[in-house]
Amino acid sequence: MRKKLAAGNWKMNGTLGSMLEIDALAEKHPAPTCDVLICPPATLVAAMAASIGDGVIKTGGQDCHANTSGAYTGDISAEMLADAGASYVLVGHSERRQDHNESDADVRSKAKAGMGAGLVVVVCCGETDDQRVAGDTLDVISAQLTASIPDGSTAENLVVAYEPIWAIGTGKVPTLAQIGEVHDAIRALLENRFGDDVGQSVRLLYGGSVKASNADDIFAVPNVDGALVGGASLKADDFSGIITALENS
Ligand code: PGA
Repeated sequence: MRKKLAAGNWKMNGTLGSMLEIDALAEKHPAPTCDVLICPPATLVAAMAASIGDGVIKTGGQDCHANTSGAYTGDISAEMLADAGASYVLVGHSERRQDHNESDADVRSKAKAGMGAGLVVVVCCGETDDQRVAGDTLDVISAQLTASIPDGSTAENLVVAYEPIWAIGTGKVPTLAQIGEVHDAIRALLENRFGDDVGQSVRLLYGGSVKASNADDIFAVPNVDGALVGGASLKADDFSGIITALENS
């Protein structure tokens, strides 16, 4: 059985005062039946990990460098995230791929680094609007994941997030059939590459304009094991509705 995962990506939002939202979330969900993860900005990773010491809400980074240490001004290594208390890291978010020119090979190196540091790595993929209209979605996703996921990945160190770029922060959501088609294809790709045991155990998240109001429908789609949530993860009240929908799915 795959343990469901509700993951929040705060992006470049939040200051120390935002820890109140984490406290409120932990209060609303003292014993969630799914995994709950928040990836705050790097400045808050240590504070967040310390503030929820019982581990009810897991802490993640939003990116990491491929190397352990060195002359990389402004970058953060996976070891540093782990040292600060993170247990997860996102890699290959479309905002990193687009705004920082990260290639699939870069994403794979970062994923390897994250796994090497003992973190669970969430590898993100997703097509543009143009790619979807051209009918290339499954080819794009397959190419991204084949090149971005490192060899030796397991259900313990890998999560895959499907996030259509045109659905991120736009309020637009694919149809449930479209989400299902991509998630089924990702499941098949993982089974082919890693064998049935691993392929069937890796958790697949959908991301892109998930809200409490559409979460029930999305979580009912086969092979959707949770969500990666941006805007609706910033406030405990909003994210709580998504966690509850996942718990009830
Ligand atoms: P959104 O972002 O929920 O605000 O659409 C999702 C993401 O980028 O992970």
